[in-house]
Amino acid sequence: MIKKIFAVIFFCLLFTSAVWADTVERYQGKSQLDDNTVYFDLFNFRGTNYFSLRDIAALLNNSEGSFSMEYDNENNAVIINRNEEYVSTGTEFKKSIGKKKTKRESCILNVKSENTDFALKTYNINNRNYIALRDICQILELNTKWDANTKTITLWYYDDMGEETDICNITVLPPVIVDKSKPMVALTFDDGPSVNTGRILDTLEKYNGVATFFVTGYNASKYGDTLRRIVDEESQIGNHTYGHLRLTSLSAGEIQSQVNRVQEIVASATGVYPTVVRPPYGSYNDFVKANINLRMLNWNVDTLDWKTRNAQSTYEEVINTLSDGNVILMHDLYSQTADAVDKIVPEIINRGYQLVTVDQLIYAKGTIKGQIK
Ligand code: NI
Repeated sequence: MIKKIFAVIFFCLLFTSAVWADTVERYQGKSQLDDNTVYFDLFNFRGTNYFSLRDIAALLNNSEGSFSMEYDNENNAVIINRNEEYVSTGTEFKKSIGKKKTKRESCILNVKSENTDFALKTYNINNRNYIALRDICQILELNTKWDANTKTITLWYYDDMGEETDICNITVLPPVIVDKSKPMVALTFDDGPSVNTGRILDTLEKYNGVATFFVTGYNASKYGDTLRRIVDEESQIGNHTYGHLRLTSLSAGEIQSQVNRVQEIVASATGVYPTVVRPPYGSYNDFVKANINLRMLNWNVDTLDWKTRNAQSTYEEVINTLSDGNVILMHDLYSQTADAVDKIVPEIINRGYQLVTVDQLIYAKGTIKGQIK
């Protein structure tokens, strides 16, 4: 075969530098390389998974298939090969030097070849170069499969015989920023998004906290920007079904449709599928459980915010019952709930608690309060 050498032209444009919290690597990935389980860092930004180039290289170099990735230290470049003849690409990344705080530097990496031009967005974080998994896949003509239940990404390609061949599985683990030695609670907000969700997110952002938003389909479809903001700011979106119907009175097909429609609405807005369902009215039975193929969760503290519409009583219910592992039910439909959150969040943090998402709580505790399955 003729070895193709692609001309590569690259340059980086420094766009904006955003200050991140000190913990940049928000997730861990886990993969099997031969008999070893390998953990590595990745982060999700705007619904896209970014991996460090070195981690991708390790995965490819140790996997089935003729892929390799090497570093050319002299030229500060990375060389990517497929079947020793496919593609060669290089890059020079803008380095962040002498920064005390973590900086995320956005660069455009231009890769030019005979037939294709790629303009890839990359990030430099703490002097490590991150690239979107989908961009690497585009260069190498790899495909990905995402299994939302096991949170596993499978990389695969068509081999010389045209067979679908898996390269590796990457399991995305929950965020690792939770300190298991400190008490924690999960604030959960049902039935939105609404015009009041932004204020709750403002408060969470101010205090570097996160929460979980169990959205209904009819509101989620109207508030795509809010969904993206929830994901961007590291909070979690849960599935509260499309039409907020009592699932115990529905058929199997209707239950599945109620859940699946929300999965698709959220994924098309954010790139992320919800991992947990909260049934409307907290109402479920064995039939409902059998027809929902996701984790299900209710709560253990009910603020009754929807009934009282009173910020002070919502605040008192949360604070007076405060205990490690609480899953607290509120509704982001009401301005009085947003008022309560203004006081709740700083007080919880003041008392030494961490605010976590339900996935983080499950990661830290195993089975949690209010868990159905
Ligand atoms: Ni509800």
